[in-house]
Parts: sequence; C-alpha cells; structure tokens
Amino acid sequence: MSHSKTAVVIPAAGSGERLGLGIPKALVEVGGRTLIERAVENLSTLAAETVIAAPAGYEENFRAIFAQAHLASHVVVITGGATRSQSVANALKALSLTTKYVLIHDAARAFAPTELAESILAQLNLGENAVVPALDVVDTIKVVDERGYVIDTPQRDLLRAVQTPQGFTFETITAAHASGADATDDAALVAVLGVPVKVVPGSQLARKITTLDDLTWAQELVGK
Ligand code: CTP
Ligand code: MG
Repeated sequence: MSHSKTAVVIPAAGSGERLGLGIPKALVEVGGRTLIERAVENLSTLAAETVIAAPAGYEENFRAIFAQAHLASHVVVITGGATRSQSVANALKALSLTTKYVLIHDAARAFAPTELAESILAQLNLGENAVVPALDVVDTIKVVDERGYVIDTPQRDLLRAVQTPQGFTFETITAAHASGADATDDAALVAVLGVPVKVVPGSQLARKITTLDDLTWAQELVGK
C-alpha cells in the first residue's frame, strides 16, 4: 500500500510538567514499557521512516531505547524545540524528500491503535490533504474572557475534540510549518493555508496522557 511513501513524526520533546514525575513524559513507563516505545510500535509498521523529536539533552536516552534490534528499523531521533510546533518543524526537516504522506502523532497518545492511523492513511489515499481524528464533545464548552466571564457558548453538536495521529501530504505539512507559526496542533497551521481538513472518527484509546489520572487509566488499560 502506501508504506514506502509514509513517514511518522512523533513530537516527544515535552517535559511532562503536569504529570510532575521529574522525567520527560515520553520516558514514563506503563506496564514496563515507555510511552515513546508504545507510540512508535503502534505506528511505525505503517511507515518507511519514523522521526522522533526528543527533549534537548535526552537524545541518547531515546536512541538507547530504539537500539534494540526489533525496534531499530528506520527510527531517527532529532532534537525537539521549545514548543510542540517547533519540535514538529525540526522533525519534518529530517524526512526524506520522497515522502508522500506524514502521520504526526503525540508520544503522549501512546495507546492510539494502529487501525486509527490506518483510517487516516485511507483518507489520504483517497486524495485528502489533511485528516484528523476527533471525538464528539460531551460537555458544554464556553469561551471565557481573561476576567473569568463567559463570552460565548458554541453550539455543542458542531464541536469535536481533536486527537492524533493527524495525517497530511508532505507538501501540505511542510508548507504549513514554513512560517514557523505556533499552534497546539498541526491541523490548525494547515487550515491557515486554506487547505480543507477532513475529520474522521477518533478513538477513546487515543486519550492524551496529561495528568496522573490519565496515567492511572493507562495502567488499568495495560493491566487488562
Ligand atoms: N511536545 C514536543 N515539544 C515541546 C512540547 C511538547 O514535542 N516543546 C510534545 C510532547 O512530548 C507530547 C505532545 O507534544 O507528546 C503534546 O504535548 P503535552 O501533552 O502538553 O506534553 P508535555 O508538554 O510533555 O506535557 P506538559 O504540558 O504537562 O509539560
Ligand atoms: Mg505541553
């Protein structure tokens, strides 16, 4: 299929401040394996190359994990940046120029299943340039001002909680990051270019490990 044309980029250069364990979040172990290992395992079978953005100073720790023979194939570790967007931009520069599709996936969403990434790739194969997984929102979401007062209540059935992996054609995502702009996801930078972003069903398993509650969820998941 598209394997030889697909690359995976994993922003993993965050510090995991909200988890508060004193080590980069991607190096935290759940059920004896690090989040970065799990994130890579679930996606790298779909790609010809995998580029990981590691926190500055931790590159060798990440390389050591992937030095094991069964994990070694085509994993490249580069130095991340001060923001998630900078980490992704750094990783994109390491991709081979023959890349056609790029899956960008947070190390923090280490339990996202391979099938979710496959559903993203399927849309790219059908001709989409940008595809994101998302879940319906259950809470009513408010826009709030700096003083703590509600400004607006967006219509809930139009809202989605967006996840990763997000998939893009190589030209689209490199163009989106060319400006050096910052956003909390890659699809936001693509949308600025006027490129349509297709939404497909997300997965509860793609939950972002952010707090200790999320880590407990993950431990229960692998304990099953
Ligand atoms: N990330 C990155 N480079 C940064 C900041 C974040 O590559 N400068 C990555 C994280 O490693 C993570 C993803 O972006 O895989 C989503 O970020 P988040 O969940 O916020 O992780 P952290 O920034 O590590 O967590 P915290 O904000 O609690 O410090
Ligand atoms: Mg962060």
